[in-house]
Amino acid sequence: MAMAMAKAMDLPRQWTLCVFVLVLALMLVSGSVEAKHYRGSRTIMVGGDLHWKFGYNYTAWALTAGPFHVGDTLVFKYQPAQIGNITIVHNVNLLKDHKAFMKCDFKHAVEIADASRGPSGFEYTLTHHRSYYFACSERGGLHCSAGMMKFSVRPMK
Ligand SMILES: *[C@@H]1O[C@H](CO)[C@@H](O)[C@H](O)[C@H]1NC(C)=O
Ligand SMILES: *[C@@H]1O[C@H](CO)[C@@H](O)[C@H](O)[C@H]1NC(C)=O
Repeated sequence: MAMAMAKAMDLPRQWTLCVFVLVLALMLVSGSVEAKHYRGSRTIMVGGDLHWKFGYNYTAWALTAGPFHVGDTLVFKYQPAQIGNITIVHNVNLLKDHKAFMKCDFKHAVEIADASRGPSGFEYTLTHHRSYYFACSERGGLHCSAGMMKFSVRPMK
């Protein structure tokens, strides 16, 4: 009788232990995320697994990948692609301001990475608390407008 009682008591005790371990694990995980967040030095793959490519909405991507912090490094990864006899390449430009960004106007843009920088992953560190406007200028701006290869970030201090 006493043994049966003890057995019945065992189950809740095991559950309590289980929950305790789970809570501890969660605390550890959130703690490490917070520590990462604090250091403000994340390395972020632009586009996630899709990398830097034509036709992916990078404005939407940036909304989910943020918030960004000064000291974070963005990685732009891209390969030349062959479609029929046309080779499609990409690059990375910094556009002048929000107006240029809206219009995909590359007149005063600065190319920070050409096609050759993509395969190894071009790294760009956000060093200032200001707005950055990234875009691909290929095909006379078509990659930026129709291809949605543009996004802006304003890293937090
Ligand atoms: C891209 O995503 C943004 C944010 O969700 C949205 O406002 C915008 O309309 C999208 N652009 C296109 C061309 O779908
Ligand atoms: C590329 O392909 C198009 C049609 O698919 C053809 O008209 C054109 O002549 C080709 N160009 C070269 C350089 O082979």
